Amino acid sequence: MTTMVAAPLAAPSTFSIEFERTDEDFFCGRRRSTPTELTPTAAEVGDYVYDATKYDLALKAALTGEDLFLIGVTGCGKTAFAKWLAHELRLSLYFVPHDAQTENEDLLAKPEQGNDGIWRHKLGSLPLAYGQGGVYLADELPSVKPGVAKVYNPVTNGDRLLVRTAAGIHTIKRHPDFIFIATGNPWTTYAGNNVIAFDLMDRCATFEWDFPSREVEVGLLSTQFPDIGLGIIEDLVAFADQIRRSAAQNPDNHRYVCSMRALKRVLHLHQNVGSTLDEAVTVGILTPLRLQFPEECETVEATLKAHVVLDRFNA
Ligand SMILES: Nc1ncnc2c1ncn2[C@@H]1O[C@H](COP(=O)(O)OP(=O)(O)OP(=O)(O)O)[C@@H](O)[C@H]1O
Ligand SMILES: [Mg+2]
Repeated sequence: MTTMVAAPLAAPSTFSIEFERTDEDFFCGRRRSTPTELTPTAAEVGDYVYDATKYDLALKAALTGEDLFLIGVTGCGKTAFAKWLAHELRLSLYFVPHDAQTENEDLLAKPEQGNDGIWRHKLGSLPLAYGQGGVYLADELPSVKPGVAKVYNPVTNGDRLLVRTAAGIHTIKRHPDFIFIATGNPWTTYAGNNVIAFDLMDRCATFEWDFPSREVEVGLLSTQFPDIGLGIIEDLVAFADQIRRSAAQNPDNHRYVCSMRALKRVLHLHQNVGSTLDEAVTVGILTPLRLQFPEECETVEATLKAHVVLDRFNA
């Protein structure tokens, strides 16, 4: 067996995670040699870092045919994981957002008028992915109205999918390369989020998704923002870590999670746009927080002061 670095994409120089297995073992021999048209490119996957210490079981479960339900706060990397997986397996990614307007026919087959004026059924992403293989990302699934999620029952049972069109009823068998990943946010306080149906969790291998570990996040950010001192990045990540823990422990009165998107925005504004750290933190963290959850802002600002050496806090 050879040793490989887990992140097949360029890993930040400050860390590496090693596995005692070959590339083929890692992907259970499922990797295709040729990408499809819908396969996310390396550029689309961007800087995603696969943190084996956190996501290994989910990866193995998906590769061995389990359907996944990833539940995690905004920005912790659920969508990014699915995209990365499709890229690594050279499979199509069917990225299907769900909301309160989503209907069964949007997922299965919908009549559409062609340029010739004739109405025909257009197959939705679900039968296409189910029959041809691909990573099917049922994004934000708990946002659908009651009943719509039932469309996935045959999928999670591994049964044939029945799709009714004007041409008749199509029965579609599950392709061996079909990978189902549903995502959702854990707290019903999020706008548009419904209570997560327990039966969906029962039907899937359910993972409480989490941000990558602190070292991984620091490594990633310091590679992306080389002009910013490592100390500042470490401080910011330590701050984010504390805020996320506190939100996870007490979601009723602490709903802000400092996502990686927010940290990247702060660092981008500081490194590339030339704003001071003070301004960048205000735009990236404090203003959205004050407008959405004003009562939390004070706590978060105090935590920031404890963790981050900002210009204004030094003044
Ligand atoms: N492991 C990771 N490596 C690199 N970047 C990451 C990772 N996880 C998350 N990110 C970054 O965080 C951003 C948000 O991730 P993503 O969109 O996957 O979150 P999410 O959990 O799907 O959030 P939401 O619930 O809001 O949809 C990504 O654009 C990516 O830049
Ligand atoms: Mg997402």
